[in-house]
Amino acid sequence: MSTELKSNEFRMVAKTMFGLEDILAKELEDLGAKNIEKLKRAVSFDGDMVLLYKANYLCRTAISILKPIYTFEANNEKELYDNVYTYKWEKLINSDGTLSIEPVVNSTIFTHSLYASQKTKDAICDRLRKMFSQRPTMTRENPDIILNLHIYENKVTISLDSTGESLHKRNYRVATGPAPINEIVAAGLIKLAGWDRESNFFDPMCGSGTILIEAAMYAYNIPAQYYRKNFAFTKWPEFSMPEWKRIREDADKEICDFDYEIWGSDISGQAIKIAQENIDNAKLHKDISLFRNAIEDQNPPEGKTLIITNPPYGERLDVDDIFDLYALIGTTFKNKYAGSTAWLITSDFDALKYVGLRPTRRIVVFNSNLECKFCKYEMYEGSKKAKKNNYDNQDPNEALYEYNEQSDEFEEPDGLDLTPDFEEDND
Ligand SMILES: C[S@@+](CC[C@H](N)C(=O)[O-])C[C@H]1O[C@@H](n2cnc3c(N)ncnc32)[C@H](O)[C@@H]1O
Repeated sequence: MSTELKSNEFRMVAKTMFGLEDILAKELEDLGAKNIEKLKRAVSFDGDMVLLYKANYLCRTAISILKPIYTFEANNEKELYDNVYTYKWEKLINSDGTLSIEPVVNSTIFTHSLYASQKTKDAICDRLRKMFSQRPTMTRENPDIILNLHIYENKVTISLDSTGESLHKRNYRVATGPAPINEIVAAGLIKLAGWDRESNFFDPMCGSGTILIEAAMYAYNIPAQYYRKNFAFTKWPEFSMPEWKRIREDADKEICDFDYEIWGSDISGQAIKIAQENIDNAKLHKDISLFRNAIEDQNPPEGKTLIITNPPYGERLDVDDIFDLYALIGTTFKNKYAGSTAWLITSDFDALKYVGLRPTRRIVVFNSNLECKFCKYEMYEGSKKAKKNNYDNQDPNEALYEYNEQSDEFEEPDGLDLTPDFEEDND
């Protein structure tokens, strides 16, 4: 049921990665967002400026928070220009201020996003120049106002971007490995895996430490943007510094203890060095333990442990080597992680087959532009019977495989599509 907007409320759109829409919707709901609607790679919702501050500071899976201000239809360039010109930009933008326009265009009418953004800029600048004999300066360097220009066919939405640089730039990363996972994806995987923070956490191929740092921030309830300084909304006319300070202080007071271990390991000394630098920079050195070891040589922490890892995708390795590596990962899961749940994210679907274990869930997510599968492997302890019983007791939605006593394997029933459906919108 949708509720009426109060005078200080407005509609917002939080952008995210494909596959993380449900997680982001839940994060926003927990912050008090109303009339939440899941879209493709985004979630729209109602709220006030306080919620806008909170969404920017706290959502682990948002890329940016937009405030749509103007929607219209345009069937050609002239209509785009004329409509943009009509809006009262002088209320928002100082004629001696700075501005940038970020286009997202998916249209058979407007085929060049840069051109559409130039037309929009011309209309805004022409209007302001006519009124004040001066026009704002276009810049991408810390502008006063960032406009998001979204065109889908002939539907144009112009939004204020309250965030600026993508929220995956958490500001804890000082060094990068060869293929770091996006911070938003890392945080999303931890939530997709349903980690209750009542167990240890382990990444045996931790690279630069992104998954470990996101896990630690979640475990200790450290706000997602605790280390970040810049948010575009701090330049908005209605920005309230006392309110923003209060939101941050209240959230920071919620940082709590965590009684379990967070461990990472990697075969590469260079990767461990980089991970340590990032962990130190995030002041998490007392909370995360690192080991330089190959996956097959490293034991996980003792006790209940959630394992999430992101093996190499194969672009930089020989095919045989990558298949061997994934086979080794499967053997290690089976031999070393009995009684635990391990999740693996990869875009290398050929190599994935070499893990040799049946995942009990597979979720499609994107890491930047790469389509990936995030697979869950449950390693049971004890007899086959115990395995079967465990399996029988699962949520029917998760019971995607049938247990075969002879092969001691879970098998995929014929014709079952394991790819979960995600809500599509008309974006
Ligand atoms: C895709 S990267 C992980 C990136 C990481 N998630 C990050 O955000 O930086 C894969 C990592 O697996 C490591 N690796 C490759 N073979 C390994 C093995 N046999 N045992 C442990 N780590 C291995 C590589 O050194 C690399 O750091």
